[in-house]
Amino acid sequence: MEKKNIDWSNLGFGYMATDKRYVANYTDGAWDEGGLVDDPNITMNECAGVLQYAQTVFEGLKAYTTEDGRTVMFRPDLNASRLADSARRLEMPVFPEDRFIDAVYQTVKANEAYVPPCGSGATLYIRPYMFGINPVIGVKPADDYQFRIFTTPVGPYFKGGAKPITIKVSDFDRAAPHGTGNIKAGLNYAMSLHAIVTAHAEGFDENMYLDAGTRTYVEETGGANFLFVDKDGKVVIPKSDSILPSITRRSLTQVAKDLGLEVEERKVAFSEVPEFVECGLCGTAAVISPVGCVNDHGKDIVFKNGCDEMGPVIKKLYDTLTGIQMGRLEDKHDWLYEIK
Ligand code: PLP
Ligand code: COI
Repeated sequence: MEKKNIDWSNLGFGYMATDKRYVANYTDGAWDEGGLVDDPNITMNECAGVLQYAQTVFEGLKAYTTEDGRTVMFRPDLNASRLADSARRLEMPVFPEDRFIDAVYQTVKANEAYVPPCGSGATLYIRPYMFGINPVIGVKPADDYQFRIFTTPVGPYFKGGAKPITIKVSDFDRAAPHGTGNIKAGLNYAMSLHAIVTAHAEGFDENMYLDAGTRTYVEETGGANFLFVDKDGKVVIPKSDSILPSITRRSLTQVAKDLGLEVEERKVAFSEVPEFVECGLCGTAAVISPVGCVNDHGKDIVFKNGCDEMGPVIKKLYDTLTGIQMGRLEDKHDWLYEIK
């Protein structure tokens, strides 16, 4: 497979149109057979449900080139089931999970020349999404939907790669108790835009959101879950019904156990944060991004083992997860789907 002539190592996390994208339409209560198309643009009615009432859900996963030259993607079955959960919560039809995996496969295969070479630091980001497309003016679910997938080669989500980032405790909330924080709906991200612009203007890389009900427990950031390491080397993962069930975090929990580390998933009070020695953000885009400092209304909480470079436990988790993804380490849980 001849790769495109792209400066892979200098890619940021941005959009670049690739050759093909996948489209399926839901009309009269059924999905059509779907297929690959060339046109990256969408034409829809001015009153489309997605434009009026934000009825849209999405996913994010990646394809990698392994050290031995295979093209693989990571756990697309979990993205398929999470998209189905998101769709049900927003009263949208489910795109069948087996068809989701097949559609992602077809899209990556058709854009294989854009899957960055191993070791370049870049990967192919895959964005499946679905939205209400027919005119909707009274507040109700759309009748017709479109499911699409595009791919785009990306570099690190945070500039500076593995250098620890600085985040602030947000005064804005991301997700309400019993709301939609646990699904991947566009509306959750629209909610976070003012908060992230504010954080960036103040010189921070991201926000730490606390639970909206009591503002005492750690939730997540705008685009990643947290993981902490305590002074005994235990991995502590915040649990909440209003955070996204991250596939990276679920995979890291298994990786940590495989490495013999103790893992505890529980509610994490914000007051405990200064006691942790390492902190990281995990997600498809973020991979594991170390956090060096959390700013709580002007007061810095600096992590002892991770403020200048990745702390040792997070580094081990990072090396193991990316080792599996790049085919350097054994994929003993069958997480990789090979594109042949
Ligand atoms: N939390 C939020 C709000 C996200 O947008 C993401 C990204 O998908 C994650 C967590 C991480 O989830 P995953 O590891 O499945 O990509
Ligand atoms: C992902 O990690 O796939 C996401 O959707 C997060 C987003 C902030 C890019």
